[in-house]
Amino acid sequence: MSEARIIDGKALAASVQERVAAAVSELRMKHSFVPGLAVVLVGDDPASRVYVRNKGRRTTEAGMKSFEYLLPADTTEKALLDRIRLLNESPEVHGILVQLPLPGQIDPARVIDAIDPDKDVDGFHVINAGRLAVGRPGLVPCTPLGCVLLAKQAREDLSGLEAVIIGRSNIVGKPLAQLLLRENCTVTIAHSRTRDLPEVARRADVLVAAVGRPELVRGEWIKAGAIVIDVGINRVRREDGKARLVGDVAFDEATAVAGAITPVPGGVGPMTIAMLLANTVKAACLQRGVPLPRMLEGL
Ligand code: GUN
Repeated sequence: MSEARIIDGKALAASVQERVAAAVSELRMKHSFVPGLAVVLVGDDPASRVYVRNKGRRTTEAGMKSFEYLLPADTTEKALLDRIRLLNESPEVHGILVQLPLPGQIDPARVIDAIDPDKDVDGFHVINAGRLAVGRPGLVPCTPLGCVLLAKQAREDLSGLEAVIIGRSNIVGKPLAQLLLRENCTVTIAHSRTRDLPEVARRADVLVAAVGRPELVRGEWIKAGAIVIDVGINRVRREDGKARLVGDVAFDEATAVAGAITPVPGGVGPMTIAMLLANTVKAACLQRGVPLPRMLEGL
């Protein structure tokens, strides 16, 4: 049995980032503006701090303006909503991302509702979820966008394929189902209550695991030659006590069966920030009423 092809998310993310940087310089030269992204973090969760720092760094590397707001853990909901209103009104800010999770005193739904849908680069606003569901232009969540681009690295045309997504979150599973439907896949969303999950998974030509359960998907769950996209990032303890990152797919077993697979780390993870940058440029072009630079078509 031949080994699965490893889909290199780091390389694909780097090429998306290059296209974004080229688009940003075109906008600066032809239309005299620079897209700006505001990232808001409430509290000091260490993992979130790392994400936020990386987002800021990549934003400036792509030639865009980055605005960071690090608010204390005891920030009130009202104070956060006031901050969002200011960012909604700022002409320099084209994208707004509030890092999740938020501390308990803040209702994330109210916060997402407060973001101008045209600046909602996470694509979490109900208006953007609705636009995606009915096939109208809008901002689409970054991780699902990355998943589709990664799957297309393995096979350009996904039309007619059976896609099975394990996980029904608003951030990944549900929007990804819409995107794969748009690619003409036959889509199944499976979840913790699905009867005979291995059997359902085995139907998949494109199998996406997005549940946050370390190595849930075993080799026997995978159809020979399938494209496997692993969204999970789980920190587990190794036998020697050190921490290690694993996906939702048992990678070594899966590579013996699948046709192509994304690794963890180095698969879906790097794509999320790359798509956030692309979304920020898209949002900026919509707000300024200028066409999307050609190099971003298809993203
Ligand atoms: N926390 C973990 N992932 C994400 C994301 O994609 N967007 C936001 N806003 N917060 C997150």
